[in-house]
Amino acid sequence: MSIAEKFASMEYGPAPEDPKEAVTWLDCHNRRFGLFIDGGWREPAKPEYFDTFDPSTGEKLATVAQGGSADIDAAVKAARDAAPKWRALTCHMRARYLYALARLVQKHSRLLAVLETMDNGKPIRESRDIDIPLVARHFYYHAGWAQLLDQEFPDHEPCGVVGQVIPWNFPLLMLAWKIAPALATGNTVVLKPAEFTPLTALLFAELCQEAGLPGGVVNIITGDGSTGEALVKHSNVDKVAFTGSTEVGRAIRGATAATHKRLSLELGGKSPFIIFEDADLDSAVEGLVDGIWFNQGQVCCAGSRLLMQESIADTLLSKIRDRMSALRMGPPLDKAIDIGAIVAQVQLDRIQSMVAQGIAEGAHCWQPQLALPSRGLYYPPTLLSNVHPTSIVAQQEIFGPVLAAMTFRTPNEAVELANNTVYGLASCVWSESINVALHVAAQIKAGVVWVNCTNMFDAACGFGGYRESGYGREGGREGLLEYLEPKWLKHAPKLSASPAPAPLEPSQPQASTPAIDRTVKLYIGGKQSRPDSGYSMEVRGADGQLLGEAPLGNRKDIRNAVEAARKAAGWAKATAHNRAQVLYYCAENLALRRAEIIQRLATAVGTKQAAQEVDLGIERIFSYAAWADKFDGAVHNPPFRNIAIAMNEALGTVGVICPAEAPLLGFLSLVMPLLAIGNTVVAIPSEKYPLIAGDLYQVFDTSDMPAGAINIVTGYVSQLLKTLAEHDDVDAIWCYGDDTLVASAKAMSVGNLKQVWTNEGRIIDWFDPKIAEGRWFLEHATQVKNIWVPYGE
Ligand code: NAI
Repeated sequence: MSIAEKFASMEYGPAPEDPKEAVTWLDCHNRRFGLFIDGGWREPAKPEYFDTFDPSTGEKLATVAQGGSADIDAAVKAARDAAPKWRALTCHMRARYLYALARLVQKHSRLLAVLETMDNGKPIRESRDIDIPLVARHFYYHAGWAQLLDQEFPDHEPCGVVGQVIPWNFPLLMLAWKIAPALATGNTVVLKPAEFTPLTALLFAELCQEAGLPGGVVNIITGDGSTGEALVKHSNVDKVAFTGSTEVGRAIRGATAATHKRLSLELGGKSPFIIFEDADLDSAVEGLVDGIWFNQGQVCCAGSRLLMQESIADTLLSKIRDRMSALRMGPPLDKAIDIGAIVAQVQLDRIQSMVAQGIAEGAHCWQPQLALPSRGLYYPPTLLSNVHPTSIVAQQEIFGPVLAAMTFRTPNEAVELANNTVYGLASCVWSESINVALHVAAQIKAGVVWVNCTNMFDAACGFGGYRESGYGREGGREGLLEYLEPKWLKHAPKLSASPAPAPLEPSQPQASTPAIDRTVKLYIGGKQSRPDSGYSMEVRGADGQLLGEAPLGNRKDIRNAVEAARKAAGWAKATAHNRAQVLYYCAENLALRRAEIIQRLATAVGTKQAAQEVDLGIERIFSYAAWADKFDGAVHNPPFRNIAIAMNEALGTVGVICPAEAPLLGFLSLVMPLLAIGNTVVAIPSEKYPLIAGDLYQVFDTSDMPAGAINIVTGYVSQLLKTLAEHDDVDAIWCYGDDTLVASAKAMSVGNLKQVWTNEGRIIDWFDPKIAEGRWFLEHATQVKNIWVPYGE
């Protein structure tokens, strides 16, 4: 073809990246890999292996060890043995190792990019320009945190040995997201890469050797789901970090419920991509290309649900179709390719079957006429329009290059549609009106909102989900907290098991004998109410004396309380100053009633403790009133033309199981930080002295606390916990109790994957403000939402 002809057609010629270096690397290993344990290579205990393929050609790339439970044992032991020395290093020494890893990633970036593309099928343009630079950035950023760790987190220590399981869509990037913060905080690691894409993790193991990382600090065990399962269930693992499907995330939550392993989950998504009529449509369409066709749509935060304002739907769809027709699909090592191969046959089958279901449910399917390569696993970019919001393709993660388009009329409808899935990972809002964009951004339930941009990532900006997209954040300061624990917590003694709840011997309502001096009620929606059961439970003092009766709340009462809490969403929208004022007012009213409350509480805990509980309780409320307008977010400066506004948002409605040992102070220590941030609460007071509810609601009633912001249901804790933990409208559970109680809170919360925060069965000294109040509590009462906004030149 002559130059003139080329100009006329503007056709791309082939521009293949040379795979020679990667092929040489594979050949040097005879295309066969063992396990990386204790700084060296080992054969698996059972000689089992599997093959990994190039999905764009179907060619076998290498044979890789299938790690079994004996190998996981060996790796965890190596990590455990390495932990004390790694932790004892100075911050600066750990920072040097992380810095060395960052440098080595950069030095070998071309090899890593090519190998990633060969193993995964993603375009080299993406692995070269996005994945690998972000990997290096992650190690640099965390080298910085390693250096600053003692200064910035003086009262924390590492979790210990961390088990990490990652998916195949961003193999090396997910490894970096996991390993960098774990090492920076002084943990040691056993990581299992995904079975479809193990190669770059194995090359990374060599970089660890090249960096001189001490043996056992990083161990890489390849294998399938059963290897992952053995790792997360291993009794000597202190923390589990997982990225992958919501289904497996749920299984891991269940498998670790009875243990004290910390858990962070980064799961699926069905992220909305909202385009308003005043958006710059051409830019929005370019954003969409990145949003859904990046990495063949195999992206947890893919903008897979297009929500278009009705007035522009036709114009927009036509622009999208035009743009789709210009996408180039083909061999991913070609530098001018937009869409590469799907990772594996099973994934391709899944995409095909979900699209077929979507069409059966009424969607119109459009695909551009692109020539598919003659071999390899490819799926064309696909537009599904006329999608009903309840259709499978609007609700479930397809994890392929498939966009499901829907329309809306008003911003409120857009928000409703956007929040109408079980997920909450990411979202995009396109509008030239800053008011519309930020108004909508505030209401979307997602860990990330990209305004007039999409798929922006940086190590400084935490990433993670709301709702069934998981919990915990990766990146940023908040990401480090996933790998740290307060020193006091780890070494606190265990609570002895509390006796099983007394057999139900309810007394009849209205039963009054002269000995009963007090009958309290439930507190729901700002009103005192009788329990649905009509029964109450006797409350006795330490000496067995009858102190009064507390209502025996049941499922219905919990449901009413949750409904009231949901309705009180205005509490989250109140200004922090207003919330602070209400809390101060609570402290004031508690102080006014000080003498009478001490007198009553003394019958259960003795006069000394009662006085301490009330006086420290007043202080505690003051503390959280003070924090309410000071627990700010941050503004990050990522290396792009954006700012990322990290907002500390409330979790939503939180169910709180209050500690038994300090009925008033324990209640306030948990409920107040939640309220300070704007959560609404359903609290179950200590069974030891539930009568405290009566004093508390009088305080709340007289303090301008909005109806429903705090609800109190008394009764048998383990029974009420079940309803709370299983309730889909409860966003999180805080459960403070013995080992059995906290394990059941975790196990029962599996359904909608609500986050559970507990004392891990340990004794908390509620009377020591250094332990029982402050940032640790506030950090658990919030989730960070990063709102990315274009900024500056
Ligand atoms: P998956 O969740 O099964 O695999 C992710 C990782 O977990 C892999 O390393 C796998 O070996 C491991 N694993 C599997 N079962 C395990 C278990 N019981 N315990 C511990 N580890 C286990 O995801 P899969 O099967 O590769 O993909 C299925 C679907 O999941 C995709 O179609 C997509 O919808 C979704 N997915 C979502 C991802 C995300 O980042 N949100 C990533 C990968 C998949």
